[in-house]
Amino acid sequence: MRVDQSSYRIPEAARFIAFEGINGCGKTTLMRSLVSDLRAKGHAAVETREPGGTPLGDELRKLLLEWPGEKISERTELLLFAAGRAEHVDKVIRPSIASGSWVLCDRYLYSSVAFQGYGRGIQRSLIDQANDFAVQGVFPDLVILLDIEPQEGLSRIAARNDSGKDSFEAEELAFHERIRRGFLEVAEQSPVPFLVLDGARSREELHQLAAAVLRCA
Ligand code: TYD
Repeated sequence: MRVDQSSYRIPEAARFIAFEGINGCGKTTLMRSLVSDLRAKGHAAVETREPGGTPLGDELRKLLLEWPGEKISERTELLLFAAGRAEHVDKVIRPSIASGSWVLCDRYLYSSVAFQGYGRGIQRSLIDQANDFAVQGVFPDLVILLDIEPQEGLSRIAARNDSGKDSFEAEELAFHERIRRGFLEVAEQSPVPFLVLDGARSREELHQLAAAVLRCA
């Protein structure tokens, strides 16, 4: 369910926010600025990511993004993301929320819907089963989706010029177009509130909009 950026305010009890979008959309930068705001206001805030977030998850991340061998089967890929997610929920996300901390997570189960579903073409019901098994009912209070043109995301990645492209960033433009559409469709269908922001806005504008919604401005 999409929520309105100017009027929606997250419930007081909310603690868990996921950030989603295509590669190069700017979600990591936005997430970090919000973590700083929350901490500056005296809140405990855990910054985490998928794939990753736990020692096992970090190993799975390396396998998923840098596997040098033959291309990983699509089913294997889905299951490895789901395995890392299950570990992340049990070891980090659920305990942190239970301790009263905020959890801000760079990608979550919606990335499996968009990348493995819309991107790779795996049937949606199978993705949902894998996600449901992994998260065991731990859904975010809000998803912040940064929406940008895939071409813009890919040029930002090329400009970063760091350790090279990972296996997803190296995919053709049409793959990223499908993922973008996937995220937007999920935002409409999901029972979880989605704040969809235009990733072409400046960092400052995005920060202000999101901080107002999180009540940490
Ligand atoms: P990352 O470097 O974190 O990319 P980004 O900075 O764009 O978030 O790499 C994570 C990659 O893994 C990213 O291309 C999306 C992909 N991914 C999936 O395909 N499925 C998933 O369930 C998750 C969590 C990520």
